[in-house]
Amino acid sequence: MILSIESSCDDSAIAITDIKTKKLLFHKKISQELEHCVYGGVVPELAARLHAEALPKILQECKPYFKDLKAVAVTSTPGLAVTLVEGVTMAKAISIALNIPLIGVNHLIGHIYSLFIEKEVLFPLTVLLVSGGHTQVMEVKSLIEIDTVAKSMDDSFGESFDKVAKMMGLGYPGGPVIEELAKNGDRKKYNFTIPLSQSPLIAFSYSGLKNAVRLAIEKAEDKSKYKDIAASFEHIATAHLVQKLKKYFKITKPKTFAIVGGASANLYLRAQIEELLKPHNAQLLLSELKYCSDNAAMIGRVAIEMYEKKMFCDLDTLVSSPKSSL
Ligand code: KG4
Ligand code: ZN
Repeated sequence: MILSIESSCDDSAIAITDIKTKKLLFHKKISQELEHCVYGGVVPELAARLHAEALPKILQECKPYFKDLKAVAVTSTPGLAVTLVEGVTMAKAISIALNIPLIGVNHLIGHIYSLFIEKEVLFPLTVLLVSGGHTQVMEVKSLIEIDTVAKSMDDSFGESFDKVAKMMGLGYPGGPVIEELAKNGDRKKYNFTIPLSQSPLIAFSYSGLKNAVRLAIEKAEDKSKYKDIAASFEHIATAHLVQKLKKYFKITKPKTFAIVGGASANLYLRAQIEELLKPHNAQLLLSELKYCSDNAAMIGRVAIEMYEKKMFCDLDTLVSSPKSSL
């Protein structure tokens, strides 16, 4: 079995996965959303302190599995420097205490493997990753052959939902609340401009849209307008992704396409991407809703592949790093 730890942002999670059967034997996540909600976003130092409390509590529950552990895996990059180090330090301690190899997992690869929890992998794959930290398209041939073909130049898709919710005083995380609010709104009411629509670049940008939404919120006489603003924002934020993917599909036809990351839980986005894929007869892969947002099961699933390839690191070379090369 492999024990895997995730602490890259505001979720403390540990999983135990069976190497042979890929079965998830244990998974527990303690989310910090309530603690960060009052600030309208994640406060890194508070997150680190909460990980230091939560991770040892979860680890206690894993004790019965200790004798069967063959490796310990941990998210090492990308993420918040002060929170990554909490998981990495714990993983190193377990590696020393149980004398088992250490595996450093890239969080973004973790999101890709959230598609394959308790399943066999299916490559090649074109992946749209939409999370709080990232908005990017990747061509994935294998665990070690991943090309990023488009990414955001500024804010991410999920982050723009968080910021719109913050401007409306709706707390954190913004994705689920904005999606809920948008359900009863008019998507055509506010004519926000689709970002980069005149640009030939295949890249994403959300800072301009965020500012346009800010102006609309400031102009709104009362909160009854918020549902239309939310609906129009969600519509344009999604139309931007669809427009750029359409452009990309002219160069590279999609065969199997996947959406991963916390914001892949958005049902409007899922429906629009389904429509986009129809003329291409491409298959759409999605993670189970419970594995879209950060979790340790996806880290464990990558770790199985890395264990089989003996991709271990020693205590000195495994460092937590806020930036990834992907
Ligand atoms: O993958 P994740 O849990 O953490 C990162 O790796 O960043 O993603 C969290 C992000 C947050 O920005 C959150 O607002 C967004 O995903 N999100 C959503 C939805 N659910 C979560 N965004 C849009 N619609 C949703 N339903
Ligand atoms: Zn994530």
